[in-house]
Amino acid sequence: MLAEVHLQRDELIAPLFVRSGSGVKSEISSMPGQYQFSADTALETVRRWADRGLRAVLLFGVTDDKNKDDVGSFAWADNAPVQTLVREIKRVLPEMLVVADTCLCEYTSHGHCGPLKEYRDGCFDVDNDRAIEYLARAAVSQSRAGADVVAPSAMMDNQVAAIRASLDDAAMPRTAIMSYSVKFASCMYGPFRDAAESPPKSGDRKTYQMDFRSPRQCMLELQEDEEQGADIVMVKPAMTYLDILSQVRANTSLPLAAYHVSGEYAQIKFAAQAGAINEKAAVIEAVSAIKRAGADIIITYYAENLANWLN
Ligand code: PBG
Ligand code: ZN
Repeated sequence: MLAEVHLQRDELIAPLFVRSGSGVKSEISSMPGQYQFSADTALETVRRWADRGLRAVLLFGVTDDKNKDDVGSFAWADNAPVQTLVREIKRVLPEMLVVADTCLCEYTSHGHCGPLKEYRDGCFDVDNDRAIEYLARAAVSQSRAGADVVAPSAMMDNQVAAIRASLDDAAMPRTAIMSYSVKFASCMYGPFRDAAESPPKSGDRKTYQMDFRSPRQCMLELQEDEEQGADIVMVKPAMTYLDILSQVRANTSLPLAAYHVSGEYAQIKFAAQAGAINEKAAVIEAVSAIKRAGADIIITYYAENLANWLN
């Protein structure tokens, strides 16, 4: 009765990796218990999640090298795995909220979140302004397939404005944007990059993701996304950024999501497998802390387990 934090199934979002083909269910070695699915096996999984009371999924596409190019054009292909699965989920489980990750790194041959440009002899970096044009195309394609929410994770400047304008032009004003507003360059994304087969081939993402030594920048990032029309803002990762989460909470009236990322899942999973900690207790303590710090929405690979554990 006196507890201030009560976890609920309807504030969780379960991430899911989908690739082309059928009958695929291959476990991700750095994330035991998480899989790459094809659309058919993914649909069975989402149906099971719905039966357990989960209300929302976040879809990531995984693509063979043959579909990758310099700009990541497969991100806006009508037959890409995310678009295909969105259509299937909306046909069979129309009540399930479908969030599509909007980025290019899963589809670029070089693994960066936008196309590259040579700024100086031999110095390449992401071409921000071309990236946002392509991200907007991807968002429109995902929205046409039926995504309720698009979630731009590329950390390009003005990505929310570009996506909002394109969705509105395409007569999809009701598609919401959950922006990865405050996303730090983190080693905790390592397992995700195995899962999505999307590590950058050279360099890192520090020119577009935030530096964890510079917390004040989070207010600028937040303000920009709010002004550009974000409907939900996000802080990512979660556990090592609870201070940031509570600052963002204090400075926005928008719904706030926190992403308990792949490396945070792996930390608990492998420690539990080694017998060092109790998995269920560790997850409930971690997710309760994220909620206590101010998150309304928690994206976690432990969503299905939590759905089973909660009263
Ligand atoms: C891609 C993306 C990443 C994650 C979500 N979208 C990886 C990255 O930025 O390198 C990380 C999610 C996780 O670690 O669970 N833009
Ligand atoms: Zn990316």
